[in-house]
Amino acid sequence: MALLKIRTYPDPILKQIAQPVVSFDAEHQKLFDDMIETMYVEDGVGLAAPQVGVSKQIMIVSPESKRGEEYVIVNPNISDLRGREVGAEGCLSLPGLSANIARAKKLILSYQDRNGHPHEMEVRDFFARVIQHELDHLNGLLMLDRVSFSDRQVLLREYQPA
Ligand code: NI
Repeated sequence: MALLKIRTYPDPILKQIAQPVVSFDAEHQKLFDDMIETMYVEDGVGLAAPQVGVSKQIMIVSPESKRGEEYVIVNPNISDLRGREVGAEGCLSLPGLSANIARAKKLILSYQDRNGHPHEMEVRDFFARVIQHELDHLNGLLMLDRVSFSDRQVLLREYQPA
């Protein structure tokens, strides 16, 4: 496995819309494994492919932050969003920043696993928050795009990229 370099704001790849994954070949299997390794080494609970310079619809999520209990989520779609809760989030692409973001408390997630098999599950609370955060990355959105204009200015003043 190889560690991947984390792209940080304002890297333009973070603004791109990620492309669907159509192949689950060896090259993608290696990418999934490298993303998993990179996420744990960077102490993240989620990592989206654009954050490692690959504009594809892939996210790794480990809400309990436990090795071996991560989800490889490919071509995700969310529906039936319920409730709303404001909570603090961080992002490996915005090192050092924390922002309060409103997210749905509960949703239905459909996705393909690393072998291309389809799944659907209900997720809630912190797991749902991580999914919504990572899905934003696949849609070219960062936490900066989820806060008010004035909060964005405050965050950008605090921001000191690595
Ligand atoms: Ni992030």
